[in-house]
Amino acid sequence: MRMKPNRNFLLGLCSMLALGFLYYSSGRISLRGWGHKSLYDKQGFLLKLDASLPLELVYKYGNLSEGVCKPGFAAAKMTAIYPKFNKLAPMFLDPNYRQFSKISDFSPPFGIKAQEKIIDILLAATKSYGLGEELDSMSCKTCIIVGNGGILTNRSLGQRIDEFDVVIRLNEAPVKGFEKDVGSKTTMRITYPEGAIQKTEHYEAQSLFVLSAFKSLDFRWLRHMVFNQRLYSTDGFWKSVARYVPRDPMDMRILNPYFIQEASFKLIGLPHNNGQMGRGNIPTLGAVAITMALHNCDEVAVAGFGYNMSTPHAPLHYYEKIRMSAIKESWTHNISKEKEFLLKLVKAGVIQDWTNGLCGVEC
Ligand SMILES: *[C@@H]1O[C@H](CO)[C@@H](O)[C@H](O)[C@H]1NC(C)=O
Ligand SMILES: *[C@@H]1O[C@H](CO)[C@@H](O)[C@H](O)[C@H]1NC(C)=O
Ligand SMILES: *[C@@H]1O[C@H](CO)[C@@H](O)[C@H](O)[C@H]1NC(C)=O
Ligand SMILES: *[C@@H]1O[C@H](CO)[C@@H](O)[C@H](O)[C@H]1NC(C)=O
Repeated sequence: MRMKPNRNFLLGLCSMLALGFLYYSSGRISLRGWGHKSLYDKQGFLLKLDASLPLELVYKYGNLSEGVCKPGFAAAKMTAIYPKFNKLAPMFLDPNYRQFSKISDFSPPFGIKAQEKIIDILLAATKSYGLGEELDSMSCKTCIIVGNGGILTNRSLGQRIDEFDVVIRLNEAPVKGFEKDVGSKTTMRITYPEGAIQKTEHYEAQSLFVLSAFKSLDFRWLRHMVFNQRLYSTDGFWKSVARYVPRDPMDMRILNPYFIQEASFKLIGLPHNNGQMGRGNIPTLGAVAITMALHNCDEVAVAGFGYNMSTPHAPLHYYEKIRMSAIKESWTHNISKEKEFLLKLVKAGVIQDWTNGLCGVEC
């Protein structure tokens, strides 16, 4: 029994080293093949990344003291390392969503093609499309995305997490009983039917319920939740789903699917597969949330992201006893490619990683 996690760990380490080597050598080959040294990698990110402020940003931000919200900082730094970045992308779908053409030609999860009718019905019922008056009127917003990683345990970051203007949580990650480490504030919970909290008593008193739709069925599920209709069948879901969401329709939102599209095809560089969902081209919800925040927050931090593979016995999630060694190869996600992307953001100082799980010794 004791040997098994160790063997898994060694296998995992070997494949990680192999992947790292492949990535490194393919980068070198492509540089030589073109005969000139590109400054950018395949995705369009600057190859040489460090957290220092580019000259053009020093004037704007250099004088601001620590802790003061820097307007436009995340997007400015993102643009500095990834010139293709275009900040304009609304957080949630609103009645003007048809004018956001980037999502119109893609089916879920990358867009809204053939879902317009149901989306119109949903938006007519929820009537609200922003974060709320107070947050929407702020000229500078700091956001933190709290991942579910066991790396949050015993770090006592709760109070500092609560100081962010916007606290984003994912799926069913609980707050109650874990406040000291994960905070008690939840501005929004981004989720999909299979990941949503199922026990109604586990919902926090207030927070926006945000659907990130990965398939067309997810929009139909949301319609049941919004109109409080009984769900007769769960055919088509990949595990059990929430059957009741204790939220007023005015507190429900639909996440702009553009963030899934951009994270997958542009930022991480997963297979395009003709714009269809396919093997290994779905970003994790965490990466989607970070992508959303880059467009909509002035400063972005994360906590509870990344797995420390040197500690196979450490807990995978902060709220349950599953160990790190239980981590499985996923068919939908490509964790190693996704980690390369997140590492770039941390290395360049676009996002702050409060639990230092994405870089480890690399930054
Ligand atoms: C920052 O400080 C420098 C020198 O102290 C000053 O010239 C510059 O105007 C300041 N920038 C801003 C944005 O306040
Ligand atoms: C967290 O701290 C508690 C109390 O000190 C301890 O019992 C527990 O083992 C710690 N958990 C981890 C994952 O370090
Ligand atoms: C992840 O991406 C790498 C590099 O493109 C590829 O070799 C690997 O097969 C992918 N893994 C999955 C699960 O799709
Ligand atoms: C991962 O765990 C090892 C062993 O406990 C530790 O030395 C290292 O600092 C950890 N890395 C991170 C990123 O926490």
